[in-house]
Amino acid sequence: MSKLTLLFAVLAVTYVHGISDNWWRDVILYQVYPRSFKDSDGDGIGDLIGITTKLEHIKDIGADVVWLSPIYISPQADFGYDVTNFTDVNPEYGTLADFTKFITKAKYLGLRVILDFVPNHSSLQHPWFKQSVKKVKPYDSFYIWRDAKIVNGVREPPNNWLSAFTGSAWEWNEERGQYFLHQFLVDQPDLNYRNPFLNLAMKDALKFWLDRGVDGFRIDAINFAFEDKLFRDDPNSNISGIPKDDYDSLIHTYSRDQNETYGLIANWRKFMDNYSKKYKIDSKLLLSEAYTTLSLTIKYYDAGANAFNFMFITPLNKTSSASDFKRTIDEWLNNLPKHNVSNWVVGNHDQPRVASRYGVRRADMITMLAMILPGIAVVYNGDEIGMTNRNFTWEETVDIAGCNAGPERYHIKSRDPERIPFQWDNTTSAGFSTNKTTWLPVHENYITVNLAAQKEAKISHYQVFKALSTLKKKHPVLRNGTEEVILISEHVLGVVRRLEGSSPVSLLINFSERDAVIDAETNLNIPRELIVYVSSVDSNIDAGTQVDTSAMKLPGYASVMLASQSQVSELLYYF
Ligand code: GLC
Ligand code: MG
Repeated sequence: MSKLTLLFAVLAVTYVHGISDNWWRDVILYQVYPRSFKDSDGDGIGDLIGITTKLEHIKDIGADVVWLSPIYISPQADFGYDVTNFTDVNPEYGTLADFTKFITKAKYLGLRVILDFVPNHSSLQHPWFKQSVKKVKPYDSFYIWRDAKIVNGVREPPNNWLSAFTGSAWEWNEERGQYFLHQFLVDQPDLNYRNPFLNLAMKDALKFWLDRGVDGFRIDAINFAFEDKLFRDDPNSNISGIPKDDYDSLIHTYSRDQNETYGLIANWRKFMDNYSKKYKIDSKLLLSEAYTTLSLTIKYYDAGANAFNFMFITPLNKTSSASDFKRTIDEWLNNLPKHNVSNWVVGNHDQPRVASRYGVRRADMITMLAMILPGIAVVYNGDEIGMTNRNFTWEETVDIAGCNAGPERYHIKSRDPERIPFQWDNTTSAGFSTNKTTWLPVHENYITVNLAAQKEAKISHYQVFKALSTLKKKHPVLRNGTEEVILISEHVLGVVRRLEGSSPVSLLINFSERDAVIDAETNLNIPRELIVYVSSVDSNIDAGTQVDTSAMKLPGYASVMLASQSQVSELLYYF
């Protein structure tokens, strides 16, 4: 693929869309975990050519943006989040030429592409770290080095900070005679953003990918970027029943969420904007990953990023009530800065799958919420077919977060269960690979839970997903309408989108396993006669059914979306 072809593809997309600074307003963002999506060469590991051959699927389900988890050169200690070269492709995943083919085809299909940017740390194998050990300028202070604390003549780490993956966040380096900080693995030394040369080097990496046509970045673990200048001890959390070296045993006041982080984001925002201005192209999307409080999350918006909204992961979970959902959603929407775009994360490669987090009968519920609420829906590959976690034995576990926690606690920390190969069909290794052995075993349920089967079935997660994305993308009520979250009864939540001149579109969710009968007509102020546009797979309610909303029966755990007859007919046209 020549550079010229790529340029034409980019220009064509720009021409069709026009230059825009909020093209992401109503998009569906689809996360691809490269190792597990599609293996093209039979080594049991997913790769770029594999992803490229499956881009039609991403287009088919109505996604607009593809986010690739890290594809950079890496020893894979944390499966790509430990980078030795920020500007090249890991041989397991392919080459830069494969990346060009991938992005060219994506753009041809009208898909945007964002990459994972991993700024907090590099791999221990990165040439910068090797230079840093040797104190070569300016690399000597590219990382966080501290002298040992000597207690009773014994060498100890400089303070009590813990690694997110268990144990001290400090590792002794014999050659330099100092400790270095690693908030994740020992293999992932933290970079030092108080050295301005480091940020220049990182911006070179960003530019490298911008020059190859990417539409933005997901920014990894950003709230770890800075630490307290005085290196004060983090306070104890006093949570009982967890080991002393477990990350949750401390409150991370001094090792995380420092104010300077927002300046760094603002700096990258400006860098992106200058780039867009220079080449007269669309703005770049920045998505910041930080599991933190609502107010500290919102501050990323003020700094110029779109901050991942993790509410469906934490604080909400399967024990939350309808009123917990209402309160949390309202609070988010009320705090979102004006003229900004919300986002709703359904799942990702670090969290149990949504179908496992909320239970199989509620597999579609969170996706339905993410699609009806205004803004970006963020979906993890496989959730569109209701994939579930696979249980791993201690012996099978390869995620170092699990390994470090030990045989008693690995199942709490390991992320292997949600990272298993994508289930394409019922052939060898679920159609993921021609190899019977894959880097993580496939789920035994692939024989029935797979894309090919769900395409054939009349009712499936795939069909539900397609109906939802069609509604989100094609219907003016979802694009421009107001939103209200209403508690209909103790266990039933309603969400209504309204637009003048249009019939409302509403979502009803039963949070209880028991059936409920509700008066949605009065409670939501919607017409008495409506049509089921789409409903959750296990609800036993067929799409197309006409309902009397004044006395509507909602089966246990059912989620149902209602629209008018003419809206439904209009949307069916797009299928
Ligand atoms: C982020 C990534 C996670 C990784 C960690 C360290 O949270 O999503 O997978 O292990 O950062 O880079
Ligand atoms: Mg850091």
